Amino acid sequence: METLEDLAQRVRDCTECPLHSGRTNAVPGEGPDDAEILFIGEGPGYYEDQQGRPFVGPAGNFLEELLQSIGMTRDQVYIANMVKCRPHNNRDPMPNEIEACSKYLDRQIELINPLLIITLGRFSMTRFLPGQSISRVRGRLRSVGGPQIFPIMHPAAGLRRQEMRSAIEEDFAKVPGLLDVLRMQAEPASESAIQESQAAYAMEASPSTESLSLWDMMPAQPSDSTAEPSPDNAAADHEATSADVPPPGQQRLF
Ligand code: URA
Ligand code: SF4
Repeated sequence: METLEDLAQRVRDCTECPLHSGRTNAVPGEGPDDAEILFIGEGPGYYEDQQGRPFVGPAGNFLEELLQSIGMTRDQVYIANMVKCRPHNNRDPMPNEIEACSKYLDRQIELINPLLIITLGRFSMTRFLPGQSISRVRGRLRSVGGPQIFPIMHPAAGLRRQEMRSAIEEDFAKVPGLLDVLRMQAEPASESAIQESQAAYAMEASPSTESLSLWDMMPAQPSDSTAEPSPDNAAADHEATSADVPPPGQQRLF
């Protein structure tokens, strides 16, 4: 049975897309193999390429701060990226590069089998929610089959704009509550209680509801009022433009 370390070695040896020729180090990802949370970023930047580790530059420092704000550390979570080799000058990864690299992420998801996947930014959001806009889906739990998906904006965006930083912090603050619900759901003993509450939700939901969101089932919290469409949406949409049209080959879920 292949381990995450075996997979990491396959990534380090990989030459299957043009990004291999510009890399100093491939960045397979890191974290415990039984992590409850899998973060998926976009691709390595300068520092990540230098060190062969994900999120070790300024965006990584912010991610660590965010984890600290909910009482967690980075060694408790798995951190991966859509592409494992750095795109030159931090350009956006191309559809063919994302497609070539997707098998490694698919396998990471399979091996870790996390309770929750937190997508960072529009590229990883698009993998699970093709055609969506990050400003519309951010901060809401989505069920697309397999682990639940919680899309948030990329930490690097939070470093550029204060309103995005606030949005990311606000979304992050929901994570402990989400984990509680998901842990409860994962316990066989409480399955029937969850099914009952899901059934109750389904009866109330309009027929057009496209995906059942556990977050929608949770009691509203006072801070929730700011989770709805907010002034930062315009800026986030600006960031999200090309993600609104899913690139070919990105429809595949795991
Ligand atoms: N940004 C990413 O998307 N991934 C990293 O690993 C670092 C910065
Ligand atoms: Fe291989 Fe992915 Fe690196 Fe491309 S980005 S060379 S597919 S590991």
